[in-house]
Amino acid sequence: MQKNALQPIASPLLRWYEANARRLPWREFPSPYRTLVSEFMLQQTRVEAVLPYYGRFLEALPDIRALAEADEQVLLKLWEGLGYYGRARNLQKAARMVTEDFGGEIPASYEALLRLPGIGPYTAGAIASIAFGLPHPAVDGNVLRVLSRIKASKKDVGNSSVRRAMEQGIQKIIPEGRAGDFNQALMELGATVCLPGEPKCGACPLAYLCKGYEKGVAASLPVKQKKPERKAVEKTIFVLIADGRLALLRRPEGGLLAGLWGLPSAEGFLTPKEAKEKIAHWGLSPAEIRPLPPTKHIFTHMEWRMTGILAQWNTLSKDCGFTWASKKEIKNGYPLPSAYRSYLNHFLSDR
Ligand code: ADE
Repeated sequence: MQKNALQPIASPLLRWYEANARRLPWREFPSPYRTLVSEFMLQQTRVEAVLPYYGRFLEALPDIRALAEADEQVLLKLWEGLGYYGRARNLQKAARMVTEDFGGEIPASYEALLRLPGIGPYTAGAIASIAFGLPHPAVDGNVLRVLSRIKASKKDVGNSSVRRAMEQGIQKIIPEGRAGDFNQALMELGATVCLPGEPKCGACPLAYLCKGYEKGVAASLPVKQKKPERKAVEKTIFVLIADGRLALLRRPEGGLLAGLWGLPSAEGFLTPKEAKEKIAHWGLSPAEIRPLPPTKHIFTHMEWRMTGILAQWNTLSKDCGFTWASKKEIKNGYPLPSAYRSYLNHFLSDR
């Protein structure tokens, strides 16, 4: 039988993890529910970004039933600013399936986890290993980078067969009874030492057996096919303020930022004159309008290039199809994605 080239990494990696693991809230008091929530939040999101959300989320929704029964707007408000809002909806769908099909117990089975919404091989492996100690790999982008460098592999990690081969390689070397620690050790090494672009090989417990380090090619790995360019969309965002309230619109149920709230907008960059006409078209006649500086927001597949228009009134006689929300209502009730943040601040920070 061919010897598994990865076998020698297991012991030094675990020893390194024991001494160097960051103290993270989902590691301190693990439970299946807490692991489920943390792994959804950590999908495509850095630990530092998740930290402020995690505790607040668990306080508001402390168990699977509370999550299953939560009002959607409350759920989205708890997720506000974390992005990829489909995760929050899938997390709730998964919680509902767990309460309906598994009596409220998150299933201790990789295959059953994989059938829940929003859970792919990586998240199923992470939950199975961390929450239940089951020997399944959890190979994310960080881990693919670590493994590509250890093997000095130039194979494209965006290719699913390359990923599967890596998973199979890991599956064979998971130390008995330590699956969760082992998977998290690999992630941790990728997140804190084996960094993209500039690996800290001097601090790496695996440098002595890393082929990428030996050949001096670690920094250039992994090989990843270039992503298609993001589509750029130009918009004018309206900050309409009347009687201390801001005009909001609920975004459509399907598509980008579905079901969240947003500011009124128009396609393209409008001149102040065009903006005035647009506002008049909505049935409002501003005393004064003022352009706001341009900004942009980057989503995975799209980029919004925005310019803004501020218009204010002292009184409001009709709603014109908008929801007019106070600062307090916005803070407590309406989930607004970060894309609007800089324009929203013209209202929120205004005394
Ligand atoms: N990324 C995904 N899961 C993680 C975990 N459990 N710890 C740290 N980073 C992670």
